[in-house]
Amino acid sequence: PQKLILDVDTGTDDAVAIMLAALHPAIELVGVTTVNGNVPVNFCTDNSLRVLDHIGRSDIKVYEGADRPLVRTAHPIPHRYDDGGEKYHPEELPVPAARSKKADKTAVEFLIETYRAATDPIVLMPVGPLTNIAAALAADPGFVKRVPEIIIMGGGYAFGNVTATAEFNIWADAEAAARVLNAGFEKVTLVTLDATHQALMTHADCDRLEALGTPAGKATADIVRFRIGVHDAYQKMGEHGGSAPVHDAVCVAYLVDRAILSTKRYFVEVETASPLMVGTTIVDTQGRSGAKPNVDLALNADPKRFVDMLAEIFAKPHG
Ligand code: BDR
Ligand code: CA
Repeated sequence: PQKLILDVDTGTDDAVAIMLAALHPAIELVGVTTVNGNVPVNFCTDNSLRVLDHIGRSDIKVYEGADRPLVRTAHPIPHRYDDGGEKYHPEELPVPAARSKKADKTAVEFLIETYRAATDPIVLMPVGPLTNIAAALAADPGFVKRVPEIIIMGGGYAFGNVTATAEFNIWADAEAAARVLNAGFEKVTLVTLDATHQALMTHADCDRLEALGTPAGKATADIVRFRIGVHDAYQKMGEHGGSAPVHDAVCVAYLVDRAILSTKRYFVEVETASPLMVGTTIVDTQGRSGAKPNVDLALNADPKRFVDMLAEIFAKPHG
């Protein structure tokens, strides 16, 4: 199986990503690291522990990471961080309270030590703000050479989801994202909103997963129904009426079925200064910069392959 480390800000779609990674026989989920993003990092950790307990994978450890962006102290900073988190109770996820405790090591310690000791290739998959990855690069100059492939959920080409042009994971810590994309990783895949919004899940998909009668099937059905509700509200029943993207889980599915996404190589930079465009991924589609392409950019996805994989893997007995 392909070894994987998931860096998450759990988060509803992160939860589905964790379940797919933990249950897919072709993946060995080596560990989960958490970062401030959707909710304050302590709730990301608690939600991740709850999900792993729920599917019977308490053996997979959770390492808590950054509780704030790398350098930024003012706007844009995830408004959830400023809220002190009291309104984001761990109950956000429709799974029972965690029985397990987080590991003693921090996310950065785990990342650096695991890659130093690795004898097999371990894919690194951040599906939240890139703060932990940037911190690991700063703490260990050799880290970038030890990571064979990094698959990032982040960025957008035609649109953003926090501002008109910026996607949340990049926006939430733009300096960290800029450092990660400039670090020189061997193989970088950036899974954008353009792609994840093509792998939408519907109410019918939720019914299909619930009918599996398994912990992951039921939890995913409940989670995605919640996301469809939120999405419809956001879209005012616009183009997505009755469906929602499950961004982070698409990245895990891509790890085992590379046909789920189509990618093209581009030079991509992150805006960190302009108040209007901060957190925007600038995709140099015509090569204007003269810089060598640094990412495989995913702009398209196959919803059927994605949902069929969830139905296949979540049908297997677990919990
Ligand atoms: C990303 O931001 C979060 O809302 C999701 O967990 C996903 O990682 C999408 O922009
Ligand atoms: Ca996420």
